[in-house]
Amino acid sequence: MFRDSQIELSEEQINHYQENGFVQVDTVISSDEVEELRTYLDEVMNNESERSVQNSKKGAAYYKVLNQRVNTWRDHGGMAKFVLSERLAGMANQLIGHKGIRLFHDHALLKMPLDSKETPWHQDYPYWPMKEPGALSIWLTLDDVDEQNGCMKFLPKTHKLKDLKAVDLVNSHDIFDDAKTKGQLLDKDRAVTVPLKAGSCTFHDGLTFHAAYSNQTDKPRRVLAIIFMPDGTIYSGKSHPVVDGLNIEKGEALTGGTFPKLA
Ligand code: SIN
Ligand code: NI
Repeated sequence: MFRDSQIELSEEQINHYQENGFVQVDTVISSDEVEELRTYLDEVMNNESERSVQNSKKGAAYYKVLNQRVNTWRDHGGMAKFVLSERLAGMANQLIGHKGIRLFHDHALLKMPLDSKETPWHQDYPYWPMKEPGALSIWLTLDDVDEQNGCMKFLPKTHKLKDLKAVDLVNSHDIFDDAKTKGQLLDKDRAVTVPLKAGSCTFHDGLTFHAAYSNQTDKPRRVLAIIFMPDGTIYSGKSHPVVDGLNIEKGEALTGGTFPKLA
């Protein structure tokens, strides 16, 4: 495990996360670390191996939403240094009340210049093969982000909303309609936009509704996102690229070296 400095979150930050389902944390890596991670990320994005590229080939519809690489830590030691770092996982552990944190997977998320599309409103949990909610993501930006180049926005308190359908990020359905038919109130007007400086991040619960603006600038928007899950998270049996082929039985914990314990 990579031992590095810890960040102690304030009570206010932890309460904000628990009440609203997301929280902003500034300067979690230094400007030198931003530079270092940018180099690693660029190297990873140049790796066109089948495993890491998945559905994100240039020309594919998904590419306009996100140019993505999955589980960069397995292919690049520099990425592993950050993805497995106790500093980042330690903050996630504080947010979930110290239940212990395992890695589900990381992904590099680039929103490409000019011709990009926004990331539609969605929850992450419906994509994940986990029996119970509780997992969360860190979204760590390597570029200053705002509404011009793909910053995120969140709908506070929506982490209480369960049993909604997964949104197809390319052909999205109206999740607001979907929620209404289930008697759940979702109000787009309550969205909170979160511009960030490079090296800063947000954490969001797997159930919190979030979306991102398109990138209208001429440079890529570079983000490292890491999905952390509480230790003991159980496999639901659902097909997912990260678990398929691993021979994990429904009802087993997602554990071992594939899903390392980080905090
Ligand atoms: C994005 O980076 O545009 C979206 C990230 C997310 O959905 O978690
Ligand atoms: Ni998401």
